[in-house]
Amino acid sequence: MIMKIEQSPENHPRTNIFEASEILDRIADRRSCRVFDGSPIDADILRDIVADGTQAPSSCNQQMWHFVILTDREDLRRANDIAGGNPHFSDCSALIYLCFQKGWAHDNHSVVQSVAAATYHMMISAHLRGLSTIWNAGIGDHQPLREMMGIPPVFELIGALAIGRPVAGAPLMKAPRRDPDSILSFGRFARPAQTIYPTRPDDTYPYASINKARNPYAEWNPDAWRWDQLGDFRGYSVWAKSPTAGVYQSRRQGEAAAQELRLLPDLPADARVLEIAPWGGTSTAALRAHLPASVHLDVAELAEPSIRFIRERLNQEGQGGLPTDFVLMRDGRLPHADASLDAVVFLQSLEHLRDRAAVLVEARRVLKPGGALVISARNMTSRYGRMWRQVESLGQVPLQGPFSPIAARDLRDLVAQAGFVIEAEVGIGLDAGGDAAVATGPMRARRRLIALRARPL
Ligand SMILES: Cc1cc2nc3c(=O)[nH]c(=O)nc-3n(C[C@H](O)[C@H](O)[C@H](O)COP(=O)(O)O)c2cc1C
Repeated sequence: MIMKIEQSPENHPRTNIFEASEILDRIADRRSCRVFDGSPIDADILRDIVADGTQAPSSCNQQMWHFVILTDREDLRRANDIAGGNPHFSDCSALIYLCFQKGWAHDNHSVVQSVAAATYHMMISAHLRGLSTIWNAGIGDHQPLREMMGIPPVFELIGALAIGRPVAGAPLMKAPRRDPDSILSFGRFARPAQTIYPTRPDDTYPYASINKARNPYAEWNPDAWRWDQLGDFRGYSVWAKSPTAGVYQSRRQGEAAAQELRLLPDLPADARVLEIAPWGGTSTAALRAHLPASVHLDVAELAEPSIRFIRERLNQEGQGGLPTDFVLMRDGRLPHADASLDAVVFLQSLEHLRDRAAVLVEARRVLKPGGALVISARNMTSRYGRMWRQVESLGQVPLQGPFSPIAARDLRDLVAQAGFVIEAEVGIGLDAGGDAAVATGPMRARRRLIALRARPL
């Protein structure tokens, strides 16, 4: 790294180019850890890390932050139960809850900005001491946390910093960073178009009226997004979790996946199968485990960072040695030759893509005569579809990107128009939430997922 230091060494005798670049490189080396070994860290070291954090600036220097450190294994397990989706809470060495006294906000959430500055400073301190960390906003319901730690009502909780040592073999990949020239501009705002995501039109977008559960400007229709915007969004957001084995896998998804995969036909030992747009690779791991080891799997995603994530994910699942290739789908086009694949699979991914009719024509192009198209899609004409319209789609789009469920009838039409004949069709899941009960009769069109196998005409 080449650095330019503006101040003269006389003013800052301890600063020189080599020290600074070494320190900055070391800081840039930090990455979040989500699988810790649970070994204890001395209370004095934890105290010093928090004390280092307080070297951060704070609004009006009021330092109205407070940090509660949990190290007791039972407390950590309870914290994990409350948080739900952050299993590293129970295997870290310490969890530092980030709090501040309400009422010292000044302007622009300055007390929150101050706590954030201290938190990052603690992360750097821990990192330079050879420890790993992860910052978490996802801490779960505040009330049981308040009771567990005795946090008074006048203090707010906004997150938790987990500190520990990684287990051997934990993913070591650094989440990709955007090109600096795409996120900075001198003098006036300027930013590449694919890094600004579509929203419903408005003149002002009042910040106070936008939150996760309710975002009146969220654009859920993938057709309103360009391909490069979909790729950009999915490619960076997938790193919100490490490519750890099992990540993004819920039990109910696993049960539904088993039913979806049953639609795959028996394949010859040298078959070549393509999975389209699996995002975090949860379905890829299940598909890879389902396919005979000799079958070649191609995985197509919209952006290079997603591919790197899925590749490491399969390594973490112990599937790295199996024949798998990764390809980019650019502007909805696949790099494959005509009639080169035995099966093309969309596992709850078609509804995330724009130009679905054209994508299915592309799937038809790359399939061999007699090849199989397998699709499982969220069904708009189901209890889930109603919940999506009335609740889910009123909030912000998920990390996988925008999507609209597809009505069972529309899916059949799309598949037929692309030149396929449907040979099997099932409905999976009765509830909006996630059972995996299978229906084959007329009620299949009312299940959460509509799943089918089709062959080229
Ligand atoms: C405010 C904030 C909240 C976060 N919350 C979570 C969380 O709840 N769960 C999680 O797994 N990661 C969480 N992260 C970690 C980010 O996903 C992570 O920092 C990001 O993907 C970049 O990766 P890196 O830290 O390895 O550079 C959070 C990070 C920040 C700054």
